[in-house]
Amino acid sequence: WVRSVRAQKEVLFLHINDGSSLEHLQVVADPSLENRDLTFGSAVEVRGKLVKSPHRRQNMELQAETIRVVGPCDIWTFPLKMKERHPLEYVRQFPHLRCRSNTLASLLRIRSEATAAIHSFFQDNGYVHIHTPIITSNDCEGAGELFQIETSNKARESAEKTQFFNVPAFLTVSGQLHLEVMAGAFTHVFTFGPTFRAENSQSRRHLAEFYMVEAELSFTESLQDIMQVMEDLFKTVTSTVLSKCPRDVELFHKYIAPAQKVINVIEKTCSPVTHFGVWFFFFFPSCRISYSEAVEILKQASQTFTFKPEWGRDLQTEHEKYLVKHCGEVPVFVIDYPYDLKPFYMRDNEDGPQHTVAAVDLLVPGVGELCGGSLREERLPFLESRLQRYAKPTGTRGVFQYLDLRKYGSVPHGGFGMGFERYLQYILGVDNIKDVIPFPRFSHSCLL
Ligand code: 4AD
Ligand code: MG
Repeated sequence: WVRSVRAQKEVLFLHINDGSSLEHLQVVADPSLENRDLTFGSAVEVRGKLVKSPHRRQNMELQAETIRVVGPCDIWTFPLKMKERHPLEYVRQFPHLRCRSNTLASLLRIRSEATAAIHSFFQDNGYVHIHTPIITSNDCEGAGELFQIETSNKARESAEKTQFFNVPAFLTVSGQLHLEVMAGAFTHVFTFGPTFRAENSQSRRHLAEFYMVEAELSFTESLQDIMQVMEDLFKTVTSTVLSKCPRDVELFHKYIAPAQKVINVIEKTCSPVTHFGVWFFFFFPSCRISYSEAVEILKQASQTFTFKPEWGRDLQTEHEKYLVKHCGEVPVFVIDYPYDLKPFYMRDNEDGPQHTVAAVDLLVPGVGELCGGSLREERLPFLESRLQRYAKPTGTRGVFQYLDLRKYGSVPHGGFGMGFERYLQYILGVDNIKDVIPFPRFSHSCLL
């Protein structure tokens, strides 16, 4: 695809790009090869000789012998313009064309590298990859943010029968319960797949459909082990991405994120990598506080919050932001949340009078919650008494199976989930989560 055309008296220059890199290939041709259809945005087939370029800024150039326009482009109606840096909000209006802009192309290459790096991280550390179901009857988080699925009108046998499986079925909110099943046979498992939540998807950090990386570790008795995996995953994947696509990342750090933010993310969180041609040696200076300490910090803040901080209430975005700032704009692990705030599967800390569970959330600057995890309640009596409150009639069979896991060789275990899009937002400094997915749900009437 042609990214620029520059016709001079004696020579015709084209820049062409096939999506493999931010770098364009320069084509040098005789002006006689110019034609009306050879415009910005058109698709071309160029034959010629690949030679060493005399120019400093590129290694190679293509000396064209023939140029054929395979697909012309109407530049007057094409929403992208030659050599313009289109804002992310602008290209978001064209979900079918925005992958042709430099920024989105870079994002999609980074997304692809990060996906591969996540798989490598787990495979290299002895984890077994499990494909967990997308259609399920469980509501793992119990927060009621479910998309229920039904057969369409055409597929219905009778007016009443909308349930395909004769039980309510949902799009998964988390693969955790299925991973826990596997953690009864493999000490380390992970999954990385699409996840669906019917929640507040208009915010800058919520999506209805997103990707979640989840890991489950058996024979684990300490939240410290879980936090260590979160940290190692973050560092390894980020340094791989920085070394595999430095130019793509640089584009974000130069033009999308304010410079200050870049230094923060890169300097403070990664292992040795070169970025902007300089070697950096990084670490992960994180802060670790308990939920109770967090509430105290918030109560003592001079700032007034829309939601008054109170022990037993959820931390809101404004609270998360304050805590991250309070700790010096570094990642913050918050542990030991109120028993009544968290899902049924979290391990009881048996403390009091402020009763907590062994939960951990990782909050990061600019994004808020990046990871959520916990130790799981592996003790049958504890789980039974908690489930009495939780079990709904429809989930009964699943509940029995979950309890079975605690009857046959139950071990202390735990795990976490990391939102993949939030991870990308954080490392690239992207404000709106819609700009780190391949297809934004911009309009309900849109084809995609
Ligand atoms: O904290 P969450 O809800 O944790 C779980 O679902 C656990 N069952 C995971 C586990 O332990 N295996 O979700 C995990 C992460 C969040 O920290 C957040 O980064 C991301 O998933 N996330 C979302 N990302 C984008 N849009 C949404 N609507 C999200 N909801 C959660
Ligand atoms: Mg969470």
